[in-house]
Amino acid sequence: TSSFASAAIVEHSFHVKNLTVNRLCRNQVITAVNGSLPGPTLRVKEGDTLVVHVFNKSPYNLTIHWHGILQLFSGWADGPEYVTQCPIRPGQSYSYRFNVTRQEGTLWWHAHSQWLRATVYGALIIRPRSGRSYPFPKPHREVPILLGEWWNDNVVDVENQATATGAPPIDSNAFTINGWPGDLYPCSSRHTYRLQVVHGKTYLLRIINAALNNQLFFKIANHEMTVVGVDASYTNPYITDVVVVAPGQTVDALLTADQTPGRYYMAANPYVSLAGVAAVNGTTTGIIVYEGTTASRPIMPVLPAFNDTPTAHKFFSNITGLVSSPFWTGVPRQIDEHMFVTVGANLVACDAPGNASCQGPFGLKLAASMNNASFQLPTKLSMLEAFFRNVDGIYTTDFPDTPPLQFDYTNASNSFNQALLITTKSTKVKKVKFNATVQVVLQNTALLGVESHPIHLHGFNFHVLAQGFGNYNPAIVAENFNLVNPQERNTIAVPVGGWAVIRFRANNPGVWFIHCHLDVHLPWGLATAFVVENGPTPETSLPPPPLDFPKC
Ligand code: C2O
Repeated sequence: TSSFASAAIVEHSFHVKNLTVNRLCRNQVITAVNGSLPGPTLRVKEGDTLVVHVFNKSPYNLTIHWHGILQLFSGWADGPEYVTQCPIRPGQSYSYRFNVTRQEGTLWWHAHSQWLRATVYGALIIRPRSGRSYPFPKPHREVPILLGEWWNDNVVDVENQATATGAPPIDSNAFTINGWPGDLYPCSSRHTYRLQVVHGKTYLLRIINAALNNQLFFKIANHEMTVVGVDASYTNPYITDVVVVAPGQTVDALLTADQTPGRYYMAANPYVSLAGVAAVNGTTTGIIVYEGTTASRPIMPVLPAFNDTPTAHKFFSNITGLVSSPFWTGVPRQIDEHMFVTVGANLVACDAPGNASCQGPFGLKLAASMNNASFQLPTKLSMLEAFFRNVDGIYTTDFPDTPPLQFDYTNASNSFNQALLITTKSTKVKKVKFNATVQVVLQNTALLGVESHPIHLHGFNFHVLAQGFGNYNPAIVAENFNLVNPQERNTIAVPVGGWAVIRFRANNPGVWFIHCHLDVHLPWGLATAFVVENGPTPETSLPPPPLDFPKC
């Protein structure tokens, strides 16, 4: 048929190298793709095959992850280091090849090794295949808006310092829009993103939060936006003056240039989830310039305060999925696997007590966990290869379905119960049958601080059935699940001091990482993986790895 005849192979080469760039009044060596920050925007149509040849000319081990791509039967291309593949060593290359099907909208790609994603990232845009159109009026132009985070340091050193000492990492020095800090930061008036618009036209903003450790509020002075998609999944139109994006998430929003011609700031600053701590790293800005207007001082939006949880919650909980989307799957009603998973920061014993590795609270090291299992990546073989070749000793399948103690968010003595506060390191995964339906209640713990964790699941979209604050109470909540038109996502910002319920069908064999997308929490262990068994037929099983698959 014509729609299949139009499917194309879209091929790119990524040359990953160190280079020097100037930001915030100084030069800094960074690792980047094809010499640009952010890296190239990849554009495909739904149904296309994407092939990206990655040449690692950087001094670091490297992998690339295609964040939010379903990777149906192509787990070898997913990318998280030591989960689905061993790293591409300096001087080596690997070609990622996968079909982009059953999803449209905005996704992105990023390094999935150490903190390299701070500078190794870019947009991945999926448009409808020929013969199909958007479920909203065709925009005049489409504009990627990549929100990022910048350090005046080598980011790998920043991460290593945090993991070695067990203390929190140093704060970033700026947030960025399309790689630029914007003119509220020193030496940055030329380092400001500008978007030219024509009065009366509508623009599709493809907003991506690529920041490492911060959720962000995004606003445009005097303009409203209409959200039409999140995480490459269509939503019912939702009109708002502020967009909230957690690291890993994306928002597609229509912007109509319908105000008095002039200049308006777009701006983003953190929705800080650590209670009581204001951000020190400022506000990033870009400038919307109506065509034909002369230079004038742009109008600045009033951004929500760093602790404005009601505004964040309103945005996150009001979005609903578009049932008329061609990719809508419906919510599975029957649940095969029920899980209750605590997510949060913990403490762990020092590697060598009394030395530099002991700078966390109580002379211990900061760690994080799911159900008190602090996830450690294997180093000898990727988990996916271990799964495919039946190799023992790389991971264990005893990830607990519930926490070791009944968790009570409101009870301080429970919070300081050692059984919850102190965690141990392991590589425990949850094994599920092909096509099993899985429901996970994610509960923030707040043992060391009241935080919101953006939990990202590789390989699947999930429905968000409910979210709220305090203790999850199954008796009250189940009646309030949205089973009709819940939003579909790959990353859920579990509310500050609260919980969220997600549900998905494990229809893709392989090993699928689930983890906090705050990069500081990933090496601390806030992760696990789903090992989804092969289905009954060759068509429902994971095919063998490609020939150039990196060796450990
Ligand atoms: Cu965008 Cu496992 O990450």
